[in-house]
Amino acid sequence: MASLVDGDQAYRHLLVLAEGIGSRPAGTSAERQAAQYISQQLTTYGYQTQVQDFSFEYYVEETPALEVVPPTPLSLNPHALRLSAGGEVTAELVPAGLGRPQDFPLEGLKGRIALIERGELSFSDKVTNAAAAGAAAVVIYNNVEGPLRGDLQEESTIPALSLSQAEGLQLQALLAEGPLTVHLFAQSTQETRTSQNVIARSPQDDCQFIVGAHYDSVAAGPGANDNASGSATLLEMARVLDLRGQEEGVCFVAFGAEEVGLFGSRHFLATLASQGRPVPQAMVNLDMVGVGAEWQLMGSPDLVEKIDEGAAALGLDPVPTEPRLNTDHLSFMEAGIPAILIHRFEDPRYHTESDRAEFVEPQLLEEAAKLAFLALAGLASP
Ligand code: BES
Ligand code: ZN
Repeated sequence: MASLVDGDQAYRHLLVLAEGIGSRPAGTSAERQAAQYISQQLTTYGYQTQVQDFSFEYYVEETPALEVVPPTPLSLNPHALRLSAGGEVTAELVPAGLGRPQDFPLEGLKGRIALIERGELSFSDKVTNAAAAGAAAVVIYNNVEGPLRGDLQEESTIPALSLSQAEGLQLQALLAEGPLTVHLFAQSTQETRTSQNVIARSPQDDCQFIVGAHYDSVAAGPGANDNASGSATLLEMARVLDLRGQEEGVCFVAFGAEEVGLFGSRHFLATLASQGRPVPQAMVNLDMVGVGAEWQLMGSPDLVEKIDEGAAALGLDPVPTEPRLNTDHLSFMEAGIPAILIHRFEDPRYHTESDRAEFVEPQLLEEAAKLAFLALAGLASP
C-alpha cells in the first residue's frame, strides 16, 4: 500500500489548509473551516466521519510589562507565567534568592517586588512563598541561558512574570549598585472556546490503531509544516487505505486545539473512555513532517523498532530520539497507550509567520506516510 502513496496529492491538501484557509488558531472559525475540509475529504473516501466538538479554557494574555523607572529607565521583555494573577504595581525590586523563606529579608517583602532565580522550587512554590512574605508581585529569571516561559500549578494571588537569564542578571547588577523601583503589569483573561476533532472510522469499527495529526496552528502564521503537513499526510493515508477497501481497525483522527495544550487528543481519549469503547492498541502521530534534514522517531520503543526494520528497504534512515516533544502522542502515552511521533528535524520557521507551503517538500509527505504505514503493518502482524 505504501507504493500507492502520492506526495503531490498530500501537498494539494496542504495548500488548501495553509494557503486557502491560512492560520488556524484553536477555537477560531478558520480552525472549524479546516475541520470541515478534512471531514469532507474523509467522507469522500468512504469513511464514517464525525466532527467531535469540545470546549476548552483559553487564556488570553495581554502583553505584560516590566520597566525600571527613572532615573535609570530600562524596558525588559517579560512573559507572564500561565495562571498568573493580573495586576499593575510600581514598587521597589528586591533580590529574593531562590524564593525560599530564608532567602527573604528579615522584615519581609512588604509590598515590594521579589526578584527570584529559577531552580530548586517550583514556580508556584516560589510565588506562594513570596506572597506569604508580603510581596506585591514576583519576577522569576532563568538559571540557564535563554528566555523563560512557564506555568503555575494553580492561579496565583499576585502577578508573576518571567525573564531571560540575561535580563535577570542585568537587574541583579543594577540592584548591586543601589535600590531600584520597577513598574510591572500583567493581565490575562480566561474564556471558554470550542474546537473539534475529526474522526474517521471504517464501518462498525472501533479504533484499534489510530493515525493522528493536529490541524490547528499558532496564530503567528499559516502552520504549513506545523501541522498542515501532518494533516495532509493523514488524508493521503486515508485515501490509500480506502483504495484497498478499508483496513480493519484503523481510525484517522485530526485533532483540534493542540497548540494551546493538547486539548483535542485529551478530549478524544476521555470520550472513548466515557463511551466504554475499547482502548486503542497504538497511536501514530504525524507532526511537522514536511521540512528539515532528518526523520526522527520518538515514543514507544516497540513502535520505533517496527518502523526502523522496514525503513531501510524504502531508502529511509529514521533516527530514534529521546522523548522530548510536546504533541498529541503524549496524551496517548500518558493514558498507557503505546504511541509514536514521526517528525522531521528541524524547522527553522517553527511557529513563525514564514511557516508557509512553499517551504514544504511534497516528497517528504510521501515518505512520512510510508513510515506511518510501516508502523501499521508492523502492528497488524506482530
Ligand atoms: N508541532 C509542535 C511539536 C513538535 C515540535 C513536533 C517539533 C515535532 C517537531 C507542537 O505543535 C507544539 O508546538 N507544541 C508545543 C506544546 C503545546 C502543548 C503547547 C511545544 O512543543 O512547545
Ligand atoms: Zn504541531
